[in-house]
Amino acid sequence: MEATKSAIKVAALCGSLRKASYNGGLVRSAMEICKESIPGMQIEYVEVSPLPMINTDLEEEGGKFPAVVEEFRRKISRADSFLFASPEYNYSIAPPLKNAIDWASRPPNVWADKAAAIVSAGGNFGGGRAQYHLRQTGVYVDLHFINKPELFVYAFQPPAKFDADGNLIDAEVKERLKQVLLSLQKFTLQLRGQCCRSRRPNDVLHCLGKRTGKTLDWTWSKSTKTKVC
Ligand SMILES: Cc1cc2nc3c(=O)[nH]c(=O)nc-3n(C[C@H](O)[C@H](O)[C@H](O)COP(=O)(O)O)c2cc1C
Repeated sequence: MEATKSAIKVAALCGSLRKASYNGGLVRSAMEICKESIPGMQIEYVEVSPLPMINTDLEEEGGKFPAVVEEFRRKISRADSFLFASPEYNYSIAPPLKNAIDWASRPPNVWADKAAAIVSAGGNFGGGRAQYHLRQTGVYVDLHFINKPELFVYAFQPPAKFDADGNLIDAEVKERLKQVLLSLQKFTLQLRGQCCRSRRPNDVLHCLGKRTGKTLDWTWSKSTKTKVC
């Protein structure tokens, strides 16, 4: 039996490829906030731009993917939960993000049973319609989104929320972003505690999380008899 107590690993993905992207600015700010004031959680930025356009002809027999896709899928697989930031493009999420979601959804779907949050910056609904579209995609890939708080940043309304490089400069938005991250942290821990799940193919691990006062201790025991839920 092996005991593990580690920080939650969050993979952050941004749908915009623009250098001065506001959504990229939200991700950078989330990483800073997490480092400075959210113990027990780490955010890794996972790039989606190197991925080829989804094409199942690129998959080899035996479920092998192109090297860059394999590497991306490994990062998604290692993460405990996800932070998505995407602009709204024609009422949906930006294609680079959808492409990334599609690659990681190929069998075995590496998004499954994990918590997620989405934030956005954009035009008159602050990217809201893209957020709701992503939640719909999340149903099929078994992602579990936090419901609240929601964060839609009205990027083009004064006062300026971002500088010329796309860095978030608005204190109130930063505070609201922090609340999203805290909610994601709480929900990730809840999902870990309530659900026994397979961490690796062919390797069923039984979650024995137990509450001790205000902290959570996590023990994982290997068992071939335990059913995955
Ligand atoms: C192809 C395209 C479609 C867009 N469609 C919408 C839209 O449906 N609704 C909206 O509010 N903004 C729309 N926009 C504006 C972007 O959401 C906005 O410029 C946003 O700030 C871009 O995000 P970024 O700064 O992270 O790159 C669109 C922009 C592009 C390039």
